[in-house]
Amino acid sequence: MKVIIVKDAQKGSEVAFNMIKNQLLSGELHVLGLATGSTPLKLYNLMTKSDLDFSNIIGINLDEYKGLSKDHDQSYAYFMKENLFSKKPFKETHVPNGLAENAEIECKRYDEIIKNNPVDIQILGIGTNGHIGFNEPGTSFDSHTSEVELTESTIEDNKRFFESKDLVPTKAFTKGIRSIMNAKNIVLLAFGEAKANAIFNTVEGPVSEQAPASVLQTHSNATVICDEAAAKLLNKESAEYIYM
Ligand code: GLP
Repeated sequence: MKVIIVKDAQKGSEVAFNMIKNQLLSGELHVLGLATGSTPLKLYNLMTKSDLDFSNIIGINLDEYKGLSKDHDQSYAYFMKENLFSKKPFKETHVPNGLAENAEIECKRYDEIIKNNPVDIQILGIGTNGHIGFNEPGTSFDSHTSEVELTESTIEDNKRFFESKDLVPTKAFTKGIRSIMNAKNIVLLAFGEAKANAIFNTVEGPVSEQAPASVLQTHSNATVICDEAAAKLLNKESAEYIYM
């Protein structure tokens, strides 16, 4: 696992943008795994403002709230349309269908999409409790796309986007940890002090299903890009950290 520590979210987003740009220009990017949340917004802004052409790229998102339609302003499908897809055309885009009636069929459908389109770069954010996608602490590292229950802490974190806490969906569809780990490259972004504990557990903690992102320690091409605030608890004497 490579760990890059940057001054702030803008710089971190530029580093991630350049990784995507280099792969795209060298013809090695065909499928881009995408994430939602406030963390990747600056990266998506750089992508939309760039002259890069994504019209041959397939975008596959991590997750979606169960029960929200793609037109609901807090659905992840809506978020992606607003912040990226309507501004930068992709060849195809995929987000789980939050309104799918049969969860098993929806998960199989999504796994099939992932199997047929291996992800070249997977962008990730991280929850304050260490979740990736919506894979909460305790999720098996062998999981594929599933319908999951959100933990109280995730509902608490995400209520800021809804009018009230009881409007936050309690379930979601998410790519599993095994599905995420199958990506050739993984880039996890973490900005702000609220992520410091999660980043410590991801980078310096034991590899444990209690800290979902710690699985990235076992991936051959995983990069964590965090700002100084999110890196606050790391042992900065370590030569393994790259400062940019
Ligand atoms: C949600 C998403 C995650 C995301 C996390 C962090 O729970 N399912 O994929 O990483 O939020 O969000 P933020 O970037 O807003 O802190």
